[in-house]
Amino acid sequence: MKLRRWTAVAAVAVATVAALNALPATAGRPYDPTAQSLGTLGQRHGLHIGTAVDMDALADPADPRYRELAASEFSSVTAENEMKWESLEPTRGSYDWGPADAFVDFARRNDQRIRGHVLVWHNQLPGWLTSGVADGSISREELRELLRNHITAVVSRYRGRIWQWDVVNEAVSDPWDTPSTLHYKGFWAQHLGPGYIADAFRWARAADPKALLFYNDYNIEAFGSGDPADDKTQFVYDMAKRLLAEGVPLDGVGSQGHLGTQYGNFDTLQVAAALKRFSALGLATAFTEVDVRSRLTEGVQTGDSEEINPRLQASAANFSVLLKACLADRHCLSYTVWGFSDRHSWVPGWFDDPPEGLATLYDERYQPKRAYQEVKADLIFAGPPYVLPRATHRPRR
Ligand code: G3I
Repeated sequence: MKLRRWTAVAAVAVATVAALNALPATAGRPYDPTAQSLGTLGQRHGLHIGTAVDMDALADPADPRYRELAASEFSSVTAENEMKWESLEPTRGSYDWGPADAFVDFARRNDQRIRGHVLVWHNQLPGWLTSGVADGSISREELRELLRNHITAVVSRYRGRIWQWDVVNEAVSDPWDTPSTLHYKGFWAQHLGPGYIADAFRWARAADPKALLFYNDYNIEAFGSGDPADDKTQFVYDMAKRLLAEGVPLDGVGSQGHLGTQYGNFDTLQVAAALKRFSALGLATAFTEVDVRSRLTEGVQTGDSEEINPRLQASAANFSVLLKACLADRHCLSYTVWGFSDRHSWVPGWFDDPPEGLATLYDERYQPKRAYQEVKADLIFAGPPYVLPRATHRPRR
């Protein structure tokens, strides 16, 4: 960055932070940042702190704390399942907007931004679509048309309400897939070829000129070998670069951030370096589905603190690594956790052999865990000159 620009940015940052820090002292009491929500603390940096929302939990009268925290602690929300194709169009030609509309209303009532999730993914597709393709009653041309109509219908319905759309999700294979050379995987690549990715972004843009359009994937927190044949981050980076060169309206890359304490994972500087490479392409970035799961060994299950404590500490450290890296890049616009309480997390249902859990910020009784405190501390202690207010990103035409 040129010196003059750096100075100007830093001056704005200092002024903003000074103003925000001066503001909240009310009724003669000193400002206590630890009493603020994560969402409020994120605003000091222009960063949105979000959560995925489980609509069943939100509607459960016996679980009021879930609603309270979902409403008060976060400044952005993502529907965990309600905007997926199988939920929206369970029967061909007949959309059930009810749960997704209720989610959008919840966000509006609580003044929260929305990450729309998800327009094109190979999972949670309606049965009529996958079986129609399997039995040949839906042709390739018809499938492309169905996808175009789906994107147009969903994006148009929520036009102007969605801040960031996950347009395409998890299109790239992993090194453990077959073949192990990274490639475009899954239902859509198989039946339409990889060209569906550019199409999807163009159709989404046509239906909403204002939403930021994201590609979203997991295992792209840091670069590896640099060889796109086995480095998924490199593969996604090359894809994004190519899409931009072709004039595709891609605005951002979302890194999901599903980590586990049994893995080596990354340090803050590695993750920050990856975010900066994506943003150097002119893209926004975001952490979109952060959670850090642990093995529920017998010791953990019987309450052995020698087994539990290292897991809680490692979990906190990993939440913090991703958040600090995000804070360090002005183009990282949001940090979203994939559920906030161990009471409602996809992890135990998904990883049961061996069992895993403990993946979120609050325990099953909604007590904040070490990870919550660490995330809060990161938001409190960050500031200029290394952490600056977020950059403005305008949707690409
Ligand atoms: O809706 C049915 C319900 O009627 C039935 O009684 C119940 C019984 O199991 O299942 C319910 O559906 C489940 C659905 O979540 C809603 O709870 C599905 O079985 C279950 O497979 C589904 O899991 C979701 C998963 O995506 C599916 O792929 C998780 O909740 C959701 O957190 C997870 O989210 C994904 C992101 O979208 C993309 N990135 C990875 C992330 C984690 O897998």
